[in-house]
Amino acid sequence: MKKYLDIANDRIPLLGLGTWEMNGEECMNAVEAAIHMGYRHLDTAQMYKNEAEVGKGMKQSNIKREELFLTTKVSTDNLEPAALIRSTEKSLKELKTDYIDLLLIHWPTPDMDMKESLSAMFRLKDQGKIKHAGVSNFSPAQFREAIDTGPVICNQIKLSPYTTRDDNLYIAKEKNLMITAYSPLDRGKVIKDTRLQEIGKRYNKNAAQVALRWLLQLGNVSVIPKSSKLEHLHENIEIFDFELSREDMKKVAGI
Ligand SMILES: NC(=O)c1ccc[n+]([C@@H]2O[C@H](COP(=O)([O-])OP(=O)(O)OC[C@H]3O[C@@H](n4cnc5c(N)ncnc54)[C@H](OP(=O)(O)O)[C@@H]3O)[C@@H](O)[C@H]2O)c1
Repeated sequence: MKKYLDIANDRIPLLGLGTWEMNGEECMNAVEAAIHMGYRHLDTAQMYKNEAEVGKGMKQSNIKREELFLTTKVSTDNLEPAALIRSTEKSLKELKTDYIDLLLIHWPTPDMDMKESLSAMFRLKDQGKIKHAGVSNFSPAQFREAIDTGPVICNQIKLSPYTTRDDNLYIAKEKNLMITAYSPLDRGKVIKDTRLQEIGKRYNKNAAQVALRWLLQLGNVSVIPKSSKLEHLHENIEIFDFELSREDMKKVAGI
């Protein structure tokens, strides 16, 4: 299976490292270690308060910036256009980079003006400060509305064998956009799932690897499991050397 999604004239790595609730040295070391293992996609957010550490981890890896795909997210209190631009410029400083590959609206809010916020993101794109704009936690209707506003390439949503979102996935496939699956391991819960473990035995893989592989095989989906442990980082990248059968895909969907 290929390791990238071809979207909007870009190659987006299907596997990324989630960094929520990782801070300080732990975060920096996990980012650097993951990049050395072959991870090329990193996910952070203004709200995680770890952009500086993610940036340091990227620098320490000595991998060329253009080989990495970096996502960050604008907090809900920065959605007003001027605040969005100011806060993204701060993110760029914290991340020690000239551009962000994908900037997302972290959560929709009842009082946000979606068009205004997205227009500010498109201005940042025109200035080369971000490569792509996207959204997160948008309902299918909100995702469609965002796409109608301009070049929005992604909706990052909670997606795991325990939480499926067929409507958002349908839109992504129809328009060749990306769904990024967050909490793809359901915050670690899938690991102990005996049904996933059983399926994994056929491929010599564990439950986490089955869950991640299942998500990728849905199509137009990237995954961003979080781990600060070397062993888990290794396991989570070993998902490109097997393919779940159609029958096993159905079994996981049944879960
Ligand atoms: N857009 C949003 O609103 C939103 C919301 C939530 C999350 N996210 C993003 O999505 C990322 C991933 O989601 P998440 O952090 O909520 O949860 P997750 O990736 O589903 O699960 C992380 C948990 O699983 C454990 N784990 C990871 N790999 C493992 C393995 N191979 N075997 C056993 N345990 C394993 C981790 O522990 P160890 O560290 O000990 O390995 C951690 O406790 C976040 O970090 C964040 O970047 C975005």
